[in-house]
Amino acid sequence: MNLIDSLNWRYATKRMTGEKISEKELETILEAIRLTPSSYGLQPYRVIVTENKELITQIYEQSCPQVVLQQCSHLLIFKAKKRLDENYLEGFLREFKRVRNANDEQIESYRKKIHNVINNPAINTFSWTIHQTYLALGYATFAAALLGIDATPIEGFNPKALNHLLDLNEEEEEAVLMLTLGYRDAAEDRLAHQLKIRKPLHLLVERL
Ligand SMILES: Cc1cc2nc3c(=O)[nH]c(=O)nc-3n(C[C@H](O)[C@H](O)[C@H](O)COP(=O)(O)O)c2cc1C
Repeated sequence: MNLIDSLNWRYATKRMTGEKISEKELETILEAIRLTPSSYGLQPYRVIVTENKELITQIYEQSCPQVVLQQCSHLLIFKAKKRLDENYLEGFLREFKRVRNANDEQIESYRKKIHNVINNPAINTFSWTIHQTYLALGYATFAAALLGIDATPIEGFNPKALNHLLDLNEEEEEAVLMLTLGYRDAAEDRLAHQLKIRKPLHLLVERL
């Protein structure tokens, strides 16, 4: 399938078969998340991957009663950072310096640019990190489609209940998105054969 065929093929799957995706495919999707661009490259999120039926059932019962959860191969949970402290920033800058062999002047200039954003009182850090997280979800969804793997992006869940269940330190990070991975149950999913509802290009794009 070419790229556009893959995007037409995918849909937010509501019923899956429970069949497993391979470890190699899972790793490709995770690598796509790793390669997702983020503002300044800070990647202010982390992803939990689970295929633990017991945990997924608890998530289903306590936070997200969407049937597809119990039928997926793997569940990805995206957690956004609540704050970007000096420790985090300096760790990032150290890695930047190492990988790019950057000099101190370059690092200081980059540090200042990032400080301008993370110390800007007009910018809500959590809202900013959530934006980055959505992009990672998009890349994962796209990568899955290219591999012929179904996925359901999910934001319809009780985040507080999920944070609690996962024992997250809410001062540090919160669960903001989930993504199921697996294979569609075309016989059971009423959406499996539905046409896409999308704006025509001329209503979406303005060429100047
Ligand atoms: C960020 C995000 C959150 C979503 N949350 C849910 C959800 O909680 N449950 C669900 O069934 N679908 C969810 N969807 C799927 C959308 O409803 C779906 O992508 C949209 O209707 C377009 O249809 P398509 O993806 O099947 O082409 C979500 C999609 C996105 C991008």
